[in-house]
Amino acid sequence: MKIGLLGLGNVAEGILSILKDNHKLLQARTGESFEVKSALVRNLEKAQEKAPSSLKLTAQASDILEDPKIDIVIEVMGGEEPALTYIKTALKNKKHVITANKAIIAQHRPELLKLAQENNVQLLFEASVAGGIPIIRTLTIGYAANHIHSLYGILNGTTNYILTNMEREEKEYPQILKNAQKLGFAEADPTMDISGLDAAYKLIILAGVAFHTTINLEDIYYEGIDNITLKDITYAKDLGYKIKLLAIGKTNPTIFKVHPTLIPISHPLAGIDNEFNAIFIDGNAVGESMLVGKGAGALPTGSAIVSDLIEIALTPKKQIPFIEDKTAKLSPIEKTYSQFYIRLTVADKVGTLEKITGLLSKQTISLSKLFQKEKTKNTAEIVMITHVVQESHMKTTIANLIVLPEIIEAPVVIRVGLEEPTA
Ligand SMILES: NC(=O)c1ccc[n+]([C@@H]2O[C@H](COP(=O)([O-])OP(=O)(O)OC[C@H]3O[C@@H](n4cnc5c(N)ncnc54)[C@H](OP(=O)(O)O)[C@@H]3O)[C@@H](O)[C@H]2O)c1
Repeated sequence: MKIGLLGLGNVAEGILSILKDNHKLLQARTGESFEVKSALVRNLEKAQEKAPSSLKLTAQASDILEDPKIDIVIEVMGGEEPALTYIKTALKNKKHVITANKAIIAQHRPELLKLAQENNVQLLFEASVAGGIPIIRTLTIGYAANHIHSLYGILNGTTNYILTNMEREEKEYPQILKNAQKLGFAEADPTMDISGLDAAYKLIILAGVAFHTTINLEDIYYEGIDNITLKDITYAKDLGYKIKLLAIGKTNPTIFKVHPTLIPISHPLAGIDNEFNAIFIDGNAVGESMLVGKGAGALPTGSAIVSDLIEIALTPKKQIPFIEDKTAKLSPIEKTYSQFYIRLTVADKVGTLEKITGLLSKQTISLSKLFQKEKTKNTAEIVMITHVVQESHMKTTIANLIVLPEIIEAPVVIRVGLEEPTA
């Protein structure tokens, strides 16, 4: 099978190395040999230095997209355009397409799958979520016999690395981010990871694959980790929790959201540290299970892409069924329920605690845990974990708390636990 690569960066290098090192194994498993014929690059001179001599380099996408000898196009250039146009052209030209591009798959999966089906080719995107973890194939084949009730994912290695090492090294977010960038666990511009957008894209893809549900990016609530402090990580630990950036997807009610979450230390997801990703799934037949692995890196991502190549090689040439997505009516974040961790810095004087608990009970919020620490001579810190409460009640309470003269700093509020009870 002849392959054209769009892009020759980290992931492309991983693919080339797996195809070279494991070619005998791949041939034995598929009866096919895979040959990367050409690669699209921007700068031919720069690419020449790292490309194998057998690989034809081109700066013209049409040399790949219009080449009748190429069976499979692998898009590993990233970004939205021109990658999206190239993917569409490749499908229209009856080439199978493999992509690692989460932004494109999150926003265009149904139309691209339809286009693939109309042209009787495959569009595969195992590498677009959780790198080396075969989560797409697990959901589409391994757990296809199940109705999936819920999934909880640590889907972003950068933020997981940062949160893990803030706790281990007892340092604040900016210092750990710098180290992560030095070690290659964070991009020079980490905004997409830190803001929760990267995890939101991946959750949208999983919503399509696990629940056959289309979710628009503008409808999904996501929140990043840039406000998490070492202090909150430490207090959470004292209370028996770890803070993780969690992607949550479930039905009845339909909830898809991404935010930092205090996870009980006893839960398997709490043990997923550093750059590792994990997805905890509850299916009606299989029950609870968890997949763990590396969410990024040239070889783990290359492993996922080569698994897509194998799927193409093994799929008999017949029409591939296309399942139309339904459109989800998401519960707005204000209508969802959660326990909450709240940290308040307050004036250390008589009556402050009563005022605060008074405001909480006005919104029918009761407390599961509370402790107070003296911070300086005149200020104290109050840390609370509430029982389950609707988000809208919590929002009102925080708005009422902020205006109290006794509140010295903006309250820190983080959701707690994996369950989403409805009342
Ligand atoms: N890295 C990972 O661990 C990982 C994990 C999962 C998914 N992914 C996804 O995989 C894709 C590739 O990631 P990567 O880390 O390999 O990126 P990368 O190292 O930046 O490589 C991208 C390559 O594409 C080329 N390119 C970009 N735009 C181009 C254009 N318009 N025309 C021609 N060539 C173009 C770049 O050329 P220049 O060098 O000239 O800019 C570079 O060679 C992205 O969609 C990413 O989100 C990556």
